[in-house]
Amino acid sequence: MVSTCSLWFYIATLILPVTVCAQQTFFPQAAVPLAIRSPHFSMWYNCPADTQPLSNSWLEFWNGATISWGGNIRVDGLTYAWMGQYNLQNSTANVTDIKITPTRSIFTMQAGPMNVTVTFLTPIEPSDWVNQSTPFSYISVEAQSLDGAAHLVQFYTELSSEFVTGIRPQGDQGGGLVSWQSSRTATSIYHQTEPEQPQPYAEVADQAEDGKGYLATTLRPGLTWAISRDTQHPFINFGNLSNAEDSTTSGPLGKPWYDVAFAVDLGNIQSTPSPVTWAIGYVRDPVVQYSTSSGTIELRRPYWTTRYSDIDTLIDAFLADYPAALRRAIAFDEKVMGDASKISSEYVDLISLVARQVMGGLDITVGSGDVTDATDVKIFMKDIGSSERVNPVERMFAAFPAYLYLNASLGGALLAPLLDHQSNQSALPYAAQDIGTTYPNVTGTHGPHSQGVEQSGNMLIMMYAHARVSGDGSLLAQYYSTAKRWADYLVSNALTPSNQDTADGESNANLTNLAIKGIIGVKAMAEISRAVQEDSDAEYYDSQANSLSSSWLSLAQSSDRQHLLGQYGDESSWAMMYNVYADLLLQTNMVPRDVLAKQTAYYQTLLQTEASHLGLPIDYVSALSKTATWTLLTSATVTDDGVRDQLIRYAWDRAATNKTTGKYPDVYDADTGDRVSSGGGVAGPALGAMFAHLALNVPNTTIVVPSSGTSRPNGAGTGNKSKSHVGAIAGGVVGGVVLLALIAGAATLIYRKKRRGGRSQRSLSPHRRHKEEEGSLDLTLPYPFEGDTDASGGGTPPPFVGVRSSKAAREHERERARLMHQPDRNMSSLFPLSETGHSIPSSEQISTGASSLPSAFLTGLRSEVEHLRRLVQGLREDRMQPPPEYSSTTD
Ligand SMILES: *[C@@H]1O[C@H](CO)[C@@H](O)[C@H](O)[C@H]1NC(C)=O
Ligand SMILES: *[C@@H]1O[C@H](CO)[C@@H](O)[C@H](O)[C@H]1NC(C)=O
Ligand SMILES: *[C@@H]1O[C@H](CO)[C@@H](O)[C@H](O)[C@H]1NC(C)=O
Ligand SMILES: *[C@@H]1O[C@H](CO)[C@@H](O)[C@H](O)[C@H]1NC(C)=O
Ligand SMILES: *[C@@H]1O[C@H](CO)[C@@H](O)[C@H](O)[C@H]1NC(C)=O
Ligand SMILES: *[C@@H]1O[C@H](CO)[C@@H](O)[C@H](O)[C@H]1NC(C)=O
Ligand SMILES: *[C@@H]1O[C@H](CO)[C@@H](O)[C@H](O)[C@H]1NC(C)=O
Ligand SMILES: *[C@@H]1O[C@H](CO)[C@@H](O)[C@H](O)[C@H]1NC(C)=O
Ligand SMILES: *[C@@H]1O[C@H](CO)[C@@H](O)[C@H](O)[C@H]1NC(C)=O
Repeated sequence: MVSTCSLWFYIATLILPVTVCAQQTFFPQAAVPLAIRSPHFSMWYNCPADTQPLSNSWLEFWNGATISWGGNIRVDGLTYAWMGQYNLQNSTANVTDIKITPTRSIFTMQAGPMNVTVTFLTPIEPSDWVNQSTPFSYISVEAQSLDGAAHLVQFYTELSSEFVTGIRPQGDQGGGLVSWQSSRTATSIYHQTEPEQPQPYAEVADQAEDGKGYLATTLRPGLTWAISRDTQHPFINFGNLSNAEDSTTSGPLGKPWYDVAFAVDLGNIQSTPSPVTWAIGYVRDPVVQYSTSSGTIELRRPYWTTRYSDIDTLIDAFLADYPAALRRAIAFDEKVMGDASKISSEYVDLISLVARQVMGGLDITVGSGDVTDATDVKIFMKDIGSSERVNPVERMFAAFPAYLYLNASLGGALLAPLLDHQSNQSALPYAAQDIGTTYPNVTGTHGPHSQGVEQSGNMLIMMYAHARVSGDGSLLAQYYSTAKRWADYLVSNALTPSNQDTADGESNANLTNLAIKGIIGVKAMAEISRAVQEDSDAEYYDSQANSLSSSWLSLAQSSDRQHLLGQYGDESSWAMMYNVYADLLLQTNMVPRDVLAKQTAYYQTLLQTEASHLGLPIDYVSALSKTATWTLLTSATVTDDGVRDQLIRYAWDRAATNKTTGKYPDVYDADTGDRVSSGGGVAGPALGAMFAHLALNVPNTTIVVPSSGTSRPNGAGTGNKSKSHVGAIAGGVVGGVVLLALIAGAATLIYRKKRRGGRSQRSLSPHRRHKEEEGSLDLTLPYPFEGDTDASGGGTPPPFVGVRSSKAAREHERERARLMHQPDRNMSSLFPLSETGHSIPSSEQISTGASSLPSAFLTGLRSEVEHLRRLVQGLREDRMQPPPEYSSTTD
């Protein structure tokens, strides 16, 4: 059996017919989401970058940092890994199938005589904010006999403390100081690990330093556990653990490695009577430090604390809920995938790939006093993958279709803190870009910038979109004068924007696509005025919007009136007019239908002349950048299904092609698919733009403005008055959604055909080859794709790979496996801007580009460069180290 993720190696080496490939449905050649719950809880399996199946890989944090979470199954006394990189050559389960749904990633494997199914389930329950904010995710394993006979089966999982600190071991220096302990509740056992000296609200290498990590399971017969520096060998030898923790309960990460582990002995079985389920959790409380507009600091707590006052009851409830949570997840998946299948199967795949990260970019918070206040909800988004910005407005705009479709109330609670900070009339005339540059510190807006048209348009569009889908007009009433200030700015500046930047970093004057966003913003203001019964304002903004849009039409169209220009007056310019999406979403009718039809025909030509194998650039200016977010918004504006499907297929190709690596970036290079450095994140919520088609079908409803609208408390978006209120409004969308799904039934699970193949030289992973040559300290590996990918990305080893692995080769078997993983991890955590190292800005780019780069980016870059310096230093020391204490074992 061939692992799915190295399938293409087999195609390359065994020359399987290409039709085999063509028959496959989607499998992301890049990263598979596993457990993604919040900005600081984001675990992935990075498939082809490792060229290794899950059964021979550690997991990753979104930035590539290794999370050593592993799992074994012992069958008749022989142990096989189903997750984790143990370097036990003959005992890696064969991965035969991977399915991805919006909430689940399901791996099927063969471990000797047993068929093993590993299911990662991260619930998405956007209408229940207790459930949605619960910082736990499930992993379940099941097994069936393949030969019909009963076998003795034990399952095992272990987890290190890497997910609670970004301070990793360097050389002989241990990482962050961590502690660990075991606890028992009424119905569960859990292990907890945390930094010994938490740094409140601090991040190191993107990870928080103030959270607690959990691995938990329900009490059951045959359950054993341990916390120890060697949990796996007792399991391999006896199939159980000691039910004890080592006397050491804290120490530097990795010196030595301590793991928390569970084993379950199922006895002699043909198949597991019910899944063996663990919960993995990462808990921060409070989650953000919020400076209010009046200057006080609120420590805001996670929403789940409105129902659960301690972790024990939360863990018991979460574990007990698994069967029901799974049923709800299946219903949710069926509904979402069913809706998406009305567009295309590629579209189903894309939605399935991004759904968890769209919700996982958020922290849902409540105000904290003596008791948490469920009426005071604010949601915070981290600009994962590119910066630490808080509620980045243009990313929220990109993701908004997802929130509108899933539960529009999420959008209101995301807008509330932005509005709170800009309600003062002395604030800037245009909207801010965010409310902080160092998540989770919400410090407020920070001065003038050059994206006034872009961000004011975004805010007005989102305000109106939230209100018309949720029916909740309270933000419109409360922040009416703020909205008017922005609309007035747009009336003066939107039609011929100059000295303006777009969110894509473009600064040409008179960009057609930027102008139309501003004009739609003015029209949104007219609708906002109407909703709050300011009729004379409504008339005024209506007439402004109408005259702006007719001026825009005459300026924006080509001289033959057959298409839209990218820039007024430049007949050779063009753009993907993604901002027109807002016109369709809001039904504001600023762009006539026949103009869209002609533009669609024009896109068809551009697809012939301007597209690469990964799609169409954003516009004539940034010819090298593709963006899935804007491509998907554009695909929802075209009047021809063929053009629509082709645009979607390009975005799909980025995920499915064997030429790309890493987590899906917001903006990627035309040829390699690699992330473009200043253009957006990886693994972040902006890919919610993929929901563009689904959001167009969400019905609007009458906007209700509370009579005391202007005196509502901050954050009075829908769903924050009380839990039941959330339910009531959200229920309209998602409750109905689930119900429909139960009726509709038909699941379109993404399915990758099983296939078989023999062993081949090529299939040996670099790590295994390394193992075979162990002692020879081959410095050229491990790195995936060597020789195979030429310029296509992913293949170029980052600098100093060899140094790392040569050191690693001397390590204890297990420890070596971890370290060998590091080139990848270090590169990506050093440069979260670049998963593969391709788009690391050169010093020249940094200096020449500085003026147009956001300061957060520069600050981040500086600290990364400092980090790099320290790392190189560490590497030098590393090389000088004597072999570590474990070097005598087994090798
Ligand atoms: C990638 O897949 C294509 C078929 O989709 C195949 O022709 C090509 O050989 C594969 N590339 C590699 C490096 O395996
Ligand atoms: C792996 O090989 C070792 C040594 O040959 C053997 O003791 C062990 O049983 C094998 N494990 C499996 C799962 O085949
Ligand atoms: C994986 O598949 C190969 C080839 O079919 C087989 O020889 C091997 O025993 C399988 N390994 C496991 C762990 O089942
Ligand atoms: C293994 O289990 C999966 C999931 O239950 C199932 O779809 C598959 O058919 C099984 N494989 C075999 C060879 O029985
Ligand atoms: C947030 O502020 C605290 C001080 O209140 C600081 O220690 C921490 O490093 C800051 N976090 C980030 C991510 O900068
Ligand atoms: C583990 O298994 C061994 C061998 O069967 C047994 O002697 C021991 O008591 C078990 N330990 C626990 C904690 O169950
Ligand atoms: C999630 O929602 C379900 C149904 O509303 C509830 O039974 C369950 O306890 C919730 N989960 C948690 C952790 O509260
Ligand atoms: C923008 O377009 C307007 C209208 O055509 C024109 O008057 C103005 O000069 C243009 N601005 C720039 C900087 O080209
Ligand atoms: C939905 O929006 C359209 C266009 O703005 C409007 O005509 C209609 O009245 C709205 N429906 C409801 C129920 O408000």
